[in-house]
Amino acid sequence: STDPLVVFTPSGKRGRFPKGTPVLTAARQLGVDLDSVCGGRGICSKCQISPGYGEFSKHGVTVHQDALSEWNAVEERYDQKRGLKPGRRLGCQAQIMGDVVIDVPPESQVHKQVVRKAASARVIEMDPATRLYFVEVEEADMHEPTGDFERLQRALKAQWEIDNIRADLSLLAKLQPVLRKGKFQVTVALHRGHAETPAQVLEIWPGLHEGGLFGLAIDLGSTTVAAHLTDLETGEVKASSGIMNPQIRFGEDLMSRVSYAMMNPGGDREMTAAVRDAINTLAEEIAKEAGIDAKLIVETVFVCNPVMHHLLLGIDPVELGQAPFALATSGSMALNARELDLVAINPRAQIYVLPCIAGHVGADAAAVALSEEPGKSEDLALIVDVGTNAEILLGDKTRVLACSSPTGPAFEGAQISSGQRAAPGAIEAIRIDPMTKEPRFRVIGSDIWSDEDGFEAAVGDGGITGICGSGIIEAVAEMRMAGLLDESGLIGSSEATGTARMIEDGRTHSYVIHDGSAKGGPVITVTQGDIRAIQLAKSALYAGARLLMDERGVDKVDRVVLAGAFGAHISPLHAMVLGMIPDVPLDKVTSAGNAAGTGARIALCNVAARREIERVVGQITKVETAIEPKFQEHFVAANAIPHKTDPFPELSK
Ligand code: FES
Repeated sequence: STDPLVVFTPSGKRGRFPKGTPVLTAARQLGVDLDSVCGGRGICSKCQISPGYGEFSKHGVTVHQDALSEWNAVEERYDQKRGLKPGRRLGCQAQIMGDVVIDVPPESQVHKQVVRKAASARVIEMDPATRLYFVEVEEADMHEPTGDFERLQRALKAQWEIDNIRADLSLLAKLQPVLRKGKFQVTVALHRGHAETPAQVLEIWPGLHEGGLFGLAIDLGSTTVAAHLTDLETGEVKASSGIMNPQIRFGEDLMSRVSYAMMNPGGDREMTAAVRDAINTLAEEIAKEAGIDAKLIVETVFVCNPVMHHLLLGIDPVELGQAPFALATSGSMALNARELDLVAINPRAQIYVLPCIAGHVGADAAAVALSEEPGKSEDLALIVDVGTNAEILLGDKTRVLACSSPTGPAFEGAQISSGQRAAPGAIEAIRIDPMTKEPRFRVIGSDIWSDEDGFEAAVGDGGITGICGSGIIEAVAEMRMAGLLDESGLIGSSEATGTARMIEDGRTHSYVIHDGSAKGGPVITVTQGDIRAIQLAKSALYAGARLLMDERGVDKVDRVVLAGAFGAHISPLHAMVLGMIPDVPLDKVTSAGNAAGTGARIALCNVAARREIERVVGQITKVETAIEPKFQEHFVAANAIPHKTDPFPELSK
């Protein structure tokens, strides 16, 4: 008689096994992705499966109700204590007795797929560096004198086939009481970074630890620090939060922070301490928000620009302020929490910092490359992460180029007369009627336009407070389309433009978008100075993109991706009217949301992705904008709206 045939779904893997083989054993032998933390002891419930009695015809297997063994005592006990969902069995207990189709539900898969963002079908495959393992350690015995840690190592080798395990002193100091409290049954959180390096015991709990394991993906920007608290078992984002980067008090943009470090002895250390403090505060707050113990955070991934990178690591960034812009190190970094003074999270938490691409192109750009994968694109993609510095990537599967361009803070609403950060009360969208020259607008957090019913109520008590980055981009583009400013960016007078909304401002003119003065609110205008600031920012961005296109030898791209917390809110039409991005069919402009943050999450959840981006970064061609004479040429030509010489045929459609 032949052995029973087992087919696993959704993998389709199949094989024959002797009667009595536990499902978990069969799954492992076939390489089926079935989770287990307790190693088959019937206590973790991670191995749940559903025998698919109804699915036989599909798989050519005739399945009988008795294809699996009856419930055994362990499974009964588990069901009584915790309750198994109807139709579910514990894969480590149920034995194969006849031909059977076995479905592994998503929550029982180690390498489960996690949706990256709601609007896209793209997923992150879970393969975290740190996982939980339950082990039974031999009790101490006078006749076999060996250390408790050595017995833990032996148990991990025998029960999980994991070799080469280390623990630091702080872990060893708690090992003995925990082992005894758990009656020599413990759960360890094991970090396995590189295949060649030892696995590290990050934490140990008596018995089966069921409190979960968590990680932080941190996008450390010049202006804000954003974090996603992620469940390392499921990939679920439990909470997201951000705070202002306190280094702002040392300088608004990167170069002013580098000069602060140059001018003030110890200034770099001050900035390092400030940002580490902020990260600790953020970690505490986000853990509280998610209702978890911050000490369960055992992994943290950072993405940041080169200056933030050095200041986080405690490296003086002065070399980044002058040619040849040498990084202290461009490689990825594997550290622990104590080295970065991250006291809020687990003291043995492992830190991974993505590699930098070049002196001006940081780990944030690497994270964008990890998230958007230009190197796998069939067509030529231009990816722009808009911020105080724009990270720009151009490429397809043959070659990827990268640069960073100093756009300044204008796109974030700074250095704009009525500018403000994206927050309630900020105007984020504007339309100007080309006939009447009258504006209508929306504020953040509401869908109602200013000329519609219910607008006042939608704005709320705080009133209209200013214009944020996406609002100012739309304002300038709309003013150009309505004929309120010319190609050179000059705002016309009341007579020339035919609207009473123009007010004189010395020798220049300003356009009034909203006059809240009757209610004690601000008068929100777009001034000539605002237009100039936006022209400088957009020229820098466009020139960076053009430089990469020159380097690649093309004068067109196939598609444009706008990324960044703010880039995602830019309207493609307005960006193109302004000449921020090169001419491309409008439906080929997409938004990627916070791609750097997504890249950080990918690296947090999937250890192979870290190796992947380390490899990819080595293949990216770096272009340095600061020393390239062509950049200046492109910059000057791009000052006109949309551009002095480059054609924009798509705009006339
Ligand atoms: Fe833990 Fe089955 S493997 S309950």
